[in-house]
Amino acid sequence: MRHTNRVLAAFLALGFTSIGVAALAQPNAGPSTGMTFRNTVTGEELNTSEGKEGGRDTPAVKEFFQTGKNLYIDDKSCLRNGESLFATSCSGCHGHLAEGKLGPGLNDNYWTYPSNTEDTGLFATIFGGANGMMGPHNENLTPDEMLQTIAWIRHLYTGPVKDAVWLNDEQKKTYTPYKQGETFPKDAPGQCPPLE
Ligand code: HEC
Repeated sequence: MRHTNRVLAAFLALGFTSIGVAALAQPNAGPSTGMTFRNTVTGEELNTSEGKEGGRDTPAVKEFFQTGKNLYIDDKSCLRNGESLFATSCSGCHGHLAEGKLGPGLNDNYWTYPSNTEDTGLFATIFGGANGMMGPHNENLTPDEMLQTIAWIRHLYTGPVKDAVWLNDEQKKTYTPYKQGETFPKDAPGQCPPLE
């Protein structure tokens, strides 16, 4: 299997020690402490209170910081916002449909950092950056905006649904991938008010 070989090659290239570090956002002991997010490359703990102000007390962010579950997945109002945030902050390097450009494609199931198959890992990469041109984005996106951006990236996914580990079984049944020309109206129902 080609995919398995590529993943294996990535593991070997990175070395086992850095994998241990890159492997990621681990839930802490108690529910009151919630998730710990770590830099995707260095493993250094990220301080989620740092960066662009706001977007930290929404129900979705509270849930995500506690459980790692992204409530915005498949929510049309959030996809609408996520599309716009991705276009402004990410598509210049990752391509309009996350197909890859200067930066790698984000719409298939090959990941340099396997932690990005989880929304917690993707959040850590966006918040704290990775190598080279992939800088931290916590100064221009709030955590809530990152969750919207993540929902959009997951929507652009083109791989087999069975491999989409960020979806639960229920979500896998209803997952409808991006269609060319698809638009989300300003009054799309859901949790995310239109961006200012
Ligand atoms: C200035 C160019 C640039 C911008 C802007 C940028 N990226 Fe990246 N991104 C890169 C490069 C280059 C890499 C490869 C870095 C590495 O391998 O460590 C990367 C890597 C990544 C990865 C890791 C992919 C993998 O295979 O594991 C993710 C996830 C990612 N970017 C998401 C985003 C998101 C989301 C945004 C917008 C908020 C964004 N990037 C903005 C250039 C960019």
